[in-house]
Amino acid sequence: EVKMLTLPDFNSDEDSIGHITVEGFKDVPFEIKRIFYIFGKENVGLVRGRHANRKSEFVLFNISGKSKVKVIDEYRNETVFELNKPQDAVYIPKMVWKEMYDFTEDSILMVLTNEYYDPAEYIREFDDFVNAVKE
Ligand code: TYD
Repeated sequence: EVKMLTLPDFNSDEDSIGHITVEGFKDVPFEIKRIFYIFGKENVGLVRGRHANRKSEFVLFNISGKSKVKVIDEYRNETVFELNKPQDAVYIPKMVWKEMYDFTEDSILMVLTNEYYDPAEYIREFDDFVNAVKE
């Protein structure tokens, strides 16, 4: 099930030093095999993603700036998550259609996943996704 994770923040706003989240990564519900990040002002106004994955699960969070993640199920029900701060992450299991958009210029969208990159496990047509879910 798609869900928000809150990574712990070890320094409060009252502390005179910056925030740190470390052990929060224990909350990631898989062993991390790959990390990538989507960044650059060219993404402003673009929609990234638009795919589902047969094997990969993801945890996404903005380490800088903001973005939104929309997940769509096979009945075209949509849920939008706003990623506005480094502690707010969304977990996306395999076989969920996802789109990332509304990137701010300073957006750095960090993505953690349980699989190495394999283009063969990406489903890039929505109708193929619907059919694959039914299988
Ligand atoms: P793509 O998955 O299409 O990006 P997005 O879904 O975020 O819009 O990937 C863009 C390009 O980067 C594509 O040529 C594949 C390559 N790529 C890798 O080689 N390894 C990776 O781990 C990822 C995520 C992408």
